Amino acid sequence: MERSRWSSKLIFLFAAIGSAVGMGNVWRFPYLAGKYGGGAFLIPYLIMLGVMGIPLLIMEFAIGQKMQLGAVGAFGNIKKKLASIGLGAVLCGFVVVSYYAVVMAWSLMYLVYSFTLKWGTDTKAFFFNDVLHLSNGVGTMGYISVPIIFSLIIIWLLVYFSVWKGVKSVGNVVIVTMPLPVILLIVLLIRGITLPGAMNGIIFYLKPNFIALLDFEVWSAAMSQIFFTLTLAFGVMIAYASFQHESSDIAKSAIITSVADSSISIVAGFAVFSTLGYMSLKSGVPVSELAASGPSLAFIVFPKALSLVPMAPLFAVLFFIMLITLGIDSAFSLVEAVSTVLHDNYPEIRREDVSMYVCVFGFIAGIIFSTFAGLYYLDITDHFITNYGLVGIGLLEVIAVGWIYKAENLRKYINEVSDIKIGKWWNILIKFIIPVILSLLLVTGIYRDIKTPYEGYPQWALFTFGWLMLAAVFTISYIFSLFSNDK
Ligand code: PHE
Repeated sequence: MERSRWSSKLIFLFAAIGSAVGMGNVWRFPYLAGKYGGGAFLIPYLIMLGVMGIPLLIMEFAIGQKMQLGAVGAFGNIKKKLASIGLGAVLCGFVVVSYYAVVMAWSLMYLVYSFTLKWGTDTKAFFFNDVLHLSNGVGTMGYISVPIIFSLIIIWLLVYFSVWKGVKSVGNVVIVTMPLPVILLIVLLIRGITLPGAMNGIIFYLKPNFIALLDFEVWSAAMSQIFFTLTLAFGVMIAYASFQHESSDIAKSAIITSVADSSISIVAGFAVFSTLGYMSLKSGVPVSELAASGPSLAFIVFPKALSLVPMAPLFAVLFFIMLITLGIDSAFSLVEAVSTVLHDNYPEIRREDVSMYVCVFGFIAGIIFSTFAGLYYLDITDHFITNYGLVGIGLLEVIAVGWIYKAENLRKYINEVSDIKIGKWWNILIKFIIPVILSLLLVTGIYRDIKTPYEGYPQWALFTFGWLMLAAVFTISYIFSLFSNDK
């Protein structure tokens, strides 16, 4: 059967950028920057982008396009047993998308609340009590929140109808969902930087703190954010590139995608921190305190900041439409990664059905994050899957490509099809430097997590939602490799 194709090169780029640019840029990046002291985070982030992000994206595009298969088949083509790396990648992606869709579901609820600024003045109490019904600790699961589940169903329906026809329908959707949030972001940026006090927020965001660079944790956070934001080690970029013709340019697409993605994160940082500067001026609370609110930044601090701005409901509506449209093309890219893998192996199943199963499973997996303790579970799962799952799979990917397939072979192929030629430095990065950095950060991360429980959560919770979840991902992949043998 003929492989599906993107209708044009531009649509491929839109889809890849759409996958990369997501809530990670506007929700995750600013809260990490806030947590690690603003400017202190930007430097490791940019270094990691150059040393790891761009070279890895080139690698994923190249391997997908060369093999013309999704993640499992692509690695399986190198050596049958390596197919399990592809399986690990889509499993990690699946875990991420199951909670990512829940964050989108909150955004959808907030979109409705925006019209009346329903959160009032105490946005923290509103988010924790009225929206999440957050229980008093990770040990109390409480019930499933009906509005969240309802909203989650809508999100999954939106995702499903974006992908049900595979690459064809994705192409039609990304034409809107890629540029629209970028335009909204620019509107919010202009609003943010023209507010009084904006400068204070921006200074906090840009002022480097060189002492913080000595902390391994900042580097690990920057590295895992690079994986998350460029959708690396999810099997997505491999699947997307597999629908390109074998002779399509690789290096340029990877550079455009990475630069567009990071620029949007940086711009989002300006929009968020300038608004926080304004809020700090009005409330007297320092920017550093406002910024350090973690995953709830977009749902506690930002709604509050927005309600202080003139014509508040308008900007609040724009902000949440932006979050949802940002999220949607990332969420469905993951569904595409999984359905590509399934479709490669079982071409007789209809694409629509494959996508439906993935969406239904994604929804079911998300139910746990929709309980009254959902935010705790989400926080722990996110920490473990991004720091160890994605990074671990990334490490296996570079070893497979660098050492077994041989980096030089892939580099030759990349240079045959690309206008921008990649030097030998790329081989060195893939074979030595990236694996060393990843191993180092994995080991120091695990050591840190064992020594001090993440965010003070009880050990059993970290064990269940962190270590056990990771063990499940890696064990399933390992068992799969036992059954894959070269003929
Ligand atoms: N790159 C996305 C982002 O930054 C992350 C993501 C990709 C999430 C795929 C889910 C699925 O938001």
